[in-house]
Amino acid sequence: MHTYNVQGPSCAAQRQDRRIAETHCLNPIILQAGAVNCSKPAGSHSNNTTTPITFPAGSGGAPSTHCPGGRAGTKQEELTRVNAITKAAQRFWNWLPTEVDRRVRVVAWLNLVAQTALVGTGGAVRLTGSGLGCPTWPRCTAESFISTPEMGIHGVIEFGNRTLFFVLQIIALTALLFVLKYRRQRRDLFILTLIPACSVLFQAVVGGITVLSGLNPYVVGLHFVLSVVLVALGSVLVYRVYHGNGDRTLAVPRWYAITTHITSFFVAVTVIVGILTTGSGPHAGDSGAARNGLDSEILQHLHAWPAYVTFGLTLVLLVAAWALRLDSQRRIVVALVAVELVQIAVGLAQARMGLPEILVGIHMVLACVLTAVMTITVLSLKATASVRSGTAPAEAIRAY
Ligand code: HEM
Repeated sequence: MHTYNVQGPSCAAQRQDRRIAETHCLNPIILQAGAVNCSKPAGSHSNNTTTPITFPAGSGGAPSTHCPGGRAGTKQEELTRVNAITKAAQRFWNWLPTEVDRRVRVVAWLNLVAQTALVGTGGAVRLTGSGLGCPTWPRCTAESFISTPEMGIHGVIEFGNRTLFFVLQIIALTALLFVLKYRRQRRDLFILTLIPACSVLFQAVVGGITVLSGLNPYVVGLHFVLSVVLVALGSVLVYRVYHGNGDRTLAVPRWYAITTHITSFFVAVTVIVGILTTGSGPHAGDSGAARNGLDSEILQHLHAWPAYVTFGLTLVLLVAAWALRLDSQRRIVVALVAVELVQIAVGLAQARMGLPEILVGIHMVLACVLTAVMTITVLSLKATASVRSGTAPAEAIRAY
């Protein structure tokens, strides 16, 4: 045993440090410094008692060797690693946007595109009859999280759709991170990124219930409605990252605004009746899945009528936007007319051709595109100050 005589009040703390360092096998330099400072010559005048600190035999008096071989080094490495991670996290935090910039706009677009793409892959699952390609959830089979070769192409398609959820989740979380630093100034962006970040998980659960319910057509329909709502919110996000959140004032005549809102109502009705039509149709997602029992032929008509009303109202908006020189409306209403024309043509074609899978899939994706364009049309009824100071409302609208 090696004995060190240490004494004096200042040494008490050092003794404590030494014990902690010894116990945790920390930097040996600390220990050696303690030994030098705390050693006092025998017989020195002090009111304090001399306390011997002992180290086990074989330690050679060097406290660090009290630790089992290599542990001190491992701790050091761990500390270095923790430091590196902290620095990287700090650098990442500094890199995050402090206002709306190009990165924020890109991620807002990515979110909208990914939400729409998910409807496309979801459609592929249903239309290829892969709805139960992975028969259980969250696992693909009772034994495996991923599809197995025996499950064939249906397993791959269904598993691919599930995988897209992860991509979507990453995009949604990135969007949330990108507005985190200026969430107080832009509460609108914070909420619009928070919803997809949370609802992607919610959608995953509804997707799971869809599978567990054996593809109940109403649950499948709810799943689609949620996707359409997320697409609409994604469009609001895209619109908002190009515009400020200042006071918004009506930039069109009141009757024009009311007509636009009525048009958007008919779009919503068309989509919901369309979902019911699908629930009664042949594309259930699996041969054993139940149908909603409604009359498919009648529903097709009930679905087409609001679609035609939507188109008629949009033509009124188009003529008015030109006649009244509503600059903020012209381009977006042209886009609306174009999407509606293609969607109606695809709808009619699929109904007459016995619902070929590819057309039904295109019809689903176009329904989302139409929802996005309609949402932006409604938002651009009002003008706001741009995010960039000094930009007039009219310029902000042109920037879109
Ligand atoms: C504004 C125009 C339209 C919109 C927004 C729209 C939207 C939709 C939506 C969202 C669905 C449900 C898709 C699904 O759940 O998979 C659907 C289904 C359907 N739509 Fe349309 N649609 C429009 C026009 C039309 C027109 C004019 C027809 C012509 C008859 C039509 C025929 C159909 C048919 C037959 C289905 C059922 C497909 C199936 O059974 O899988 N659609 N539509």
